[in-house]
Amino acid sequence: MKLIICENYDAVMEQAAQITIDIIKNKPDCILGLPTGSTPIGLYNNLVKEYEAGKLDFSQVKSFNLDEYYPIDPENDQSYRYFMNKHLFNRINIDINNTRVPNGNCEDPNQECAEYEKAIDLAGGIDLQILGIGNNGHIGFNEPDKNLQAYTHMTKLTENTIEANSRFFEKSDDVPRKALTMGMASIMKAEKILMLITGKAKHNALMTLLSDNITTDVPASLLKLHTDVTIICDKASYEE
Ligand code: F6R
Repeated sequence: MKLIICENYDAVMEQAAQITIDIIKNKPDCILGLPTGSTPIGLYNNLVKEYEAGKLDFSQVKSFNLDEYYPIDPENDQSYRYFMNKHLFNRINIDINNTRVPNGNCEDPNQECAEYEKAIDLAGGIDLQILGIGNNGHIGFNEPDKNLQAYTHMTKLTENTIEANSRFFEKSDDVPRKALTMGMASIMKAEKILMLITGKAKHNALMTLLSDNITTDVPASLLKLHTDVTIICDKASYEE
């Protein structure tokens, strides 16, 4: 795994944007795997700036998001679909039909997950998978557990994640208890993985990532089995 340590959050987001921009320029019809959360907002802002400057074209880009709450209406302002439209898709020239987020409103989650996984493969696979990481080492909604699941599936949120995500809701009771998420193999199928880590609270997760240990207790540690992972972190997450 390649590690890039940056001075602060903004510098991490600049590096991440540069890598993403290079990929889009080299392959205008590339497929991006995208995260939500507070971490990638700066990256999305930088991509929007590049687009507004007339230097980046998303017209042929396709995207697959990592996850979505379940159940949730895509119109709900806490849904990940809403988040993506607001922070990125509505601000660039991507064809909204080329953007996929698991449907949190589907009637049959198992069918939705199977179709989602198939759609990734049919599209030709993800060229660049961008990831954030939970304080507990989760990626997507693949939470620490004895068993992890390979492909897109429905999962229960842990108390830790409900607590962490409750900051976006009025109260923690409002956080949906389930989610649809790409699995570990869905993520590992990507050609290239870019992991963004910022803030002190992610220190332990980052240290496990940098250690020699692979454990389902820290799902992100499985990324060590992938041959093209770049971690970009800030000093706050790297230093004790
Ligand atoms: C969101 C996702 C999550 C987040 C993680 C970190 O799509 O996949 O795994 O990346 O919870 O969230 P933030 O960036 O809010 O700390």
